[in-house]
Amino acid sequence: MNILILTGSAFGHSHTEAVADKINELIEKPEHTVDHLMLRTLDMPLFGQGKTDDVELLKRKAEDADAIIIGTPNYHTSYSGILKNALDHLSFDEFSMKPVALFCNSGGMRSTDPLTQLRMVIRGVHGMVIPNQISTTDNDFMKNEVGYYEINDDELIERISNMVDMLIDQAYKCIN
Ligand SMILES: Cc1cc2nc3c(=O)[nH]c(=O)nc-3n(C[C@H](O)[C@H](O)[C@H](O)COP(=O)(O)O)c2cc1C
Repeated sequence: MNILILTGSAFGHSHTEAVADKINELIEKPEHTVDHLMLRTLDMPLFGQGKTDDVELLKRKAEDADAIIIGTPNYHTSYSGILKNALDHLSFDEFSMKPVALFCNSGGMRSTDPLTQLRMVIRGVHGMVIPNQISTTDNDFMKNEVGYYEINDDELIERISNMVDMLIDQAYKCIN
């Protein structure tokens, strides 16, 4: 399986990217391949304001993926603008009937609001969002010795692993 992770944090060393790293670690290789695009690092103009090589890269990687995992920080009880802008560059071509899994991180209370809103957006491009989802808060992480966040909770890691397994199962069903 070819799995693409998209993350929408505005800042580096983020909690959302730490979850993406954990997901990457949990996915078995070389049976599966994983690409993680940190959208903040891409040259991604506002939709309608032109195209760049990075827009093409995003479209190609999304189209080539058998499954897509999308992670976002909670910004004002929603997903980030960086992510929305990237999704506006994508459409049915990349998402139609493709399994998608979602996760988000909130600074305050644990919240699924950003995920519920993302679920609606992905339905709009005919992606198939699986029921399992992950909602973390800053309290679920600790900083390691090099200043990166790491998940600090085995039960949460188990839940992430279950979400990934369900996504891959679904992706196999879609290609068979
Ligand atoms: C513009 C903005 C809006 C935010 N709004 C919320 C919010 O509504 N609820 C919340 O719990 N945290 C909110 N936060 C805090 C972020 O969710 C928190 O900093 C989180 O750790 C960011 O995730 P990241 O490290 O993956 O980027 C907001 C942060 C920013 C920058």
